[in-house]
Amino acid sequence: MNQGNGFIETFGRPPAITASAPGRVNLIGEHTDYNGGAVLPAALQRRIQVALAPQEAPTVTIKSTRFDDLIERPVGDAKRGDWTDYAMGALSKAAELGWLEGGVKLHIESDIPDGAGVSSSAALITAILRAASSAGHVTTTAVAIAKHARAVENDYIGMPCGIMDQMAVGLADHGKALALDTSDLSYDVIDIPEDWGIAVIHSGVRRELADGRYKARFEECQAAANFLKTEQLCQLNDAQRNAMAKMPDPLRKRARHVVTEHKRTLKATEAMKADDLDTFAALMNESHRSYSQDFEASTPAIDDLVNDALNIGAKGARLTGGGFGGCIVALIEQSQLEDWIAELLDRHENAWRV
Ligand code: GLA
Repeated sequence: MNQGNGFIETFGRPPAITASAPGRVNLIGEHTDYNGGAVLPAALQRRIQVALAPQEAPTVTIKSTRFDDLIERPVGDAKRGDWTDYAMGALSKAAELGWLEGGVKLHIESDIPDGAGVSSSAALITAILRAASSAGHVTTTAVAIAKHARAVENDYIGMPCGIMDQMAVGLADHGKALALDTSDLSYDVIDIPEDWGIAVIHSGVRRELADGRYKARFEECQAAANFLKTEQLCQLNDAQRNAMAKMPDPLRKRARHVVTEHKRTLKATEAMKADDLDTFAALMNESHRSYSQDFEASTPAIDDLVNDALNIGAKGARLTGGGFGGCIVALIEQSQLEDWIAELLDRHENAWRV
């Protein structure tokens, strides 16, 4: 991909700035990131590239290589409910920060699938904020950009996500995992052992985070935290842990997922550092059971894919991302990966490798 060329072909002049960001897959730690818990995402090889230049007209002109048309929206336009909102939200944030104001021509090229749970939106927002910070000659940090990117999702898009995706796409590179403590944003970038084969397989069922089910789980976690009188469900003291038993369902089950998932993620991080594939894989399997049964965020098609993934030889497999469709992530020895993927895709005609 040569971003400069795509921009020149579209707009007839070179861009002022280019920037990029990868997609991510979450290895373990689901819905812990807005509950003060641990997460362990990894960067994908797939990336989004943006190129931009200021323009005089008070217009944002957007070209994505995925679509034929040029899209024009007025600077500062409110959310309207399509994918260009992510670009508009990021540019509004950049203007608010004084990094890049006024009209912009924007070219986007990406091989990160959207609606798959691999953070195409976090990658787009992050790449635009990176470009905008360069355009404004601002010295900033990856963590600051991640916080701004999350604010775009929370405030402009109205998606109450945590900060995992923005930190992952901002701080991890392909082949690395980000062990992040979302209670204080401390982190460790870990090498994924080279003989671990990690596959991300799309179920063929598209998911939309903004469709309300993610928000419903977010609100149940908030209700559980209120019941237990804590701000962070993943950081309960003994009394609060005991009080969990008295919570009505489904709040009790939701909290149980989040609390146990946090612990699994800490153990999995140690297992990765110790190159202990079997332990890591077993934790992934427990994570899926908890995500499916206690958090009730899986679907029959995903459960089926996870079961088959294990039946044909994966050591670990689980639904990854916000839930309700999208992708599974599986772990198997690298030497068996390709044959295993071929067999799984053979059995599931709607599934595809990300
Ligand atoms: C989405 C959100 C993240 C996180 C995951 C679930 O990816 O954007 O903040 O909550 O779902 O782990």
